[in-house]
Amino acid sequence: MSKKIVLSGSRPTGNIHLGNYFGALENWVRLQDDYNCYFFIADWHALTTGYDDTKDLYKNTVSLMADFLASGLDPNKATLFLQSLVSPHAELYLLLGMNTPLSWLERCPTYKDMMANMTEKDIATYGFLGYPVLQAADILMYKADYVPVGEDQIPHLEMTREIARRFNYLYESAIFPEPQPLLTKSKVLPGTDGRKMSKSYGNTIALADTPDEVSQKVMSMITDPARIRKDDPGHPEVCTVFAFHKVFSEDEVSDIEEQCRKGTIGCVACKRKLQARMARFHTPIYEKRQKLLEDESGLLDIIRDGSRKASEAAERTIEEVRKAVRIGI
Ligand code: TRP
Ligand code: SF4
Repeated sequence: MSKKIVLSGSRPTGNIHLGNYFGALENWVRLQDDYNCYFFIADWHALTTGYDDTKDLYKNTVSLMADFLASGLDPNKATLFLQSLVSPHAELYLLLGMNTPLSWLERCPTYKDMMANMTEKDIATYGFLGYPVLQAADILMYKADYVPVGEDQIPHLEMTREIARRFNYLYESAIFPEPQPLLTKSKVLPGTDGRKMSKSYGNTIALADTPDEVSQKVMSMITDPARIRKDDPGHPEVCTVFAFHKVFSEDEVSDIEEQCRKGTIGCVACKRKLQARMARFHTPIYEKRQKLLEDESGLLDIIRDGSRKASEAAERTIEEVRKAVRIGI
């Protein structure tokens, strides 16, 4: 039996942080053993909001591939590629755009949300409205069965299925299967200030942070404000350090909880423990990442090789699509 196909993508908008890692990458790494996986850098998607400032695009692309590999994605297992090196994505996007009703795009919740909230940038563009069509092209190109994404992407998956159905119907074809989201329970880490980890809050811990930076960030985390002296009883449920222990110190977390509640461990000692745990996780990834970035042309080769592999599959699909639409000669 041939393996089911999994596809997902990430926009090159800056360094991957632990929220992204536990929300997506960790899961992708597991999937590459059991599925035929395509994971890609969505640089055209980055342009939908960042069209006016592309100076960091190259650096962010190379660095995202380093994040992928340092996290454990393996180009011998999964096809790792760059969207803009696989031009059939653009052609499929164009053809799907011809028959996607405007109303589907206008009522997309992510679109409405961003239009209302993103006031510092002009995103009233054709490209931004068409974001879900481009995403549908990415997914349908490889006839993906499953798409591992976060909750926020569910509307895009739903629209991808509608677009697939409409294409198959209009051109009396059965080219596109309807992809399903793959929602996995992932570990949830707050940011260093206890809010959601997000680049715009400046509360992230990135894979690219140095081990010293990570240690400092742990030291600066907000703990239970009711603990003034070190033997005051604590409330771990309100403490950011404890939220991290739940992810990084699974075998010790119930001891830590008890000692905190009894006031037999001080916050500084508790943070020292977390520093050690996080270093054990982060330092090897960080070092691997640094090593990869020392050989930039090696990274570029990996991007190009993966994109060539993806192009072969994409060319096959786009041929079928052209035939079904009866475009070209
Ligand atoms: N929209 C996704 C995000 O913002 C990125 C993305 C682009 C994607 N194309 C995709 C994800 C295809 C899954 C499948 O995270
Ligand atoms: Fe948080 Fe640990 Fe201090 Fe308890 S002892 S409040 S869990 S840092």
